[in-house]
Amino acid sequence: MKKYVVTGGAGFIGSTIVRMLLDKQAGFGDGSVEVVDNLLTGHEHNLEEVRGRGVLNNVTLHKVDIRDGAALVPLLDGADTVFHLAAIPSVPRSIHEPVPSHEVNINGTFNVLQAAAQGKVRRVVYAASSSAYGDTEVLPKTESMAPRPKSPYAVQKLLGEYYASVFHSCFGLETVALRFFNVYGPRQDPSSPYSGVLSLFMKHLLAHTQPTIFGDGGQSRDFTYVEDVAGLCLKASRAKGCEGKMYNAGNGGRYTLNQIWDLLQKIEGVQIAAKYGPPRAGDVRDSMADTVSAATELGHAPQFTIEQGLKKTLEWYRMAEATSGV
Ligand code: UD1
Repeated sequence: MKKYVVTGGAGFIGSTIVRMLLDKQAGFGDGSVEVVDNLLTGHEHNLEEVRGRGVLNNVTLHKVDIRDGAALVPLLDGADTVFHLAAIPSVPRSIHEPVPSHEVNINGTFNVLQAAAQGKVRRVVYAASSSAYGDTEVLPKTESMAPRPKSPYAVQKLLGEYYASVFHSCFGLETVALRFFNVYGPRQDPSSPYSGVLSLFMKHLLAHTQPTIFGDGGQSRDFTYVEDVAGLCLKASRAKGCEGKMYNAGNGGRYTLNQIWDLLQKIEGVQIAAKYGPPRAGDVRDSMADTVSAATELGHAPQFTIEQGLKKTLEWYRMAEATSGV
């Protein structure tokens, strides 16, 4: 039986990958899944749906911090694929708390790659970040553009890409880096000021309170639905010819924050004016992925329009709020 490891598997993206890995219809369901998560931003309840499906025996949660390299070695040993998503996310958090952010995102990533190489793992799929591009002169952002990181988070994620590529060229470990573009969807935790903007927008929409938009709201993002990104991670775990490379994992569109807040109000049939605050340090102005390489080389084919993704996400928050007060 194959072994899959998902670091950060109790997070909202990681737990979506876990569910897909158990899905025979998705071409998986052929192995055990080891989740490595310190539950700093992830939650055990994100894996609950998996329990509900009666396949708990195939999923084990290991409460391990990726800063603990020695603990990773036996967990990763002999795995078919390691999906490395564990990180301390957030651009502003990396500015306010640079030390833990550096230690987890850089040292932790090194530990994962090192344990994977040592344990003869077949492939590591690494969650890189679109923040590595910084402010580019043209859109969409293509993989060949020079990176221009604007924040510690962006530097850390970029360094992880470099390490992944070098572990391939120097140690023969198959690695693929995917630059995630503002992923959103069910289970994204809205409880922190560092939470992703769409989870915060959803929370305000349902509570009928005003969200705060940092800056003029004209900044744009290529918001990508979580299932599309998780699906791409699975494709990247099996594609040929992508070893040692980096790909955009985006949707190929972009919306300003003002447009998204307008759209959400229309979907919900309410009118709530947003508050505006000062722009955030390290913020990128515009973000939009060129998806050609991911489509041709990995088979990336996003399924969800922004309207579909927002509606599904909103329904999930409504249900979660009704059942557990998320
Ligand atoms: C960045 C990366 C993204 C990565 C994420 C991890 C870019 C372009 N994207 O996202 O790939 O996954 O880090 O954390 O760098 N905002 C508000 N009000 C709020 C919260 C946020 O206006 O209450 C604004 C932010 O200032 C920003 C936008 O919304 O302009 C998106 O913020 P956020 O969701 O935190 O993600 P990014 O920093 O864009």
